[in-house]
Amino acid sequence: MKLIFATNNPHKLEEFRLAIGSRVKIISLSEAGIRKEIPEPYPTLKENAREKAQTIHRLSGGENCFSEDTGLEVDALGGEPGVNSARYAGEPVSYTLNTAKLLRALGDAPNRRARFITVICLILQGQEYFFEGRCEGQILRAPAGTEGFGYDPVFVPDGSQKTFAEMSPKEKNIFSHRRKAGDGLIAFLKTQTDSPAHVQN
Ligand code: IMP
Repeated sequence: MKLIFATNNPHKLEEFRLAIGSRVKIISLSEAGIRKEIPEPYPTLKENAREKAQTIHRLSGGENCFSEDTGLEVDALGGEPGVNSARYAGEPVSYTLNTAKLLRALGDAPNRRARFITVICLILQGQEYFFEGRCEGQILRAPAGTEGFGYDPVFVPDGSQKTFAEMSPKEKNIFSHRRKAGDGLIAFLKTQTDSPAHVQN
């Protein structure tokens, strides 16, 4: 089966391809010949994921596709940056400035509890399905590591001593919100591919 993934983010592509394996061929937007910045105008991850998936479904002429939207919720900041994680420090998007702003906002706050939340929207045969994955952890006081992207250098998942940016993609996938959401997607796709009348390709 083949699915267009509504992203050109190479990190997200790599993480999903690792999590999902060879059972499903994941095609990026550029591989699908779609060049479009898809806005994320809504106040929830679910609505933004839905908007991205619906846009790609339309632009591709009705192909099966999925999108994801991810946010980092920090308890001491009342859940910020949350759905604004990508543009927390404004435009143009900068991972470094976003992370610096987060550390400034947290200052010396003793409560460093945070979580990544990923929502996937799958459109299969014209029907919408949603899957969610969460990863609980802590925000460090200074960045560590050079792998990954976004807030990875300041996020240590529960059960590890390392930040995501100190892990290989494979190691990050053991803990990650994106992998957990991908697990839900894969489990669902298995139920669909087991009845081949439902899904072609
Ligand atoms: P997006 O809107 O889903 O692309 O993601 C929002 C922002 O959250 C990104 O720009 C990154 O800064 C951050 N982000 C998303 N996923 C991750 C992750 O796995 N690790 C670290 N930061 C992430």
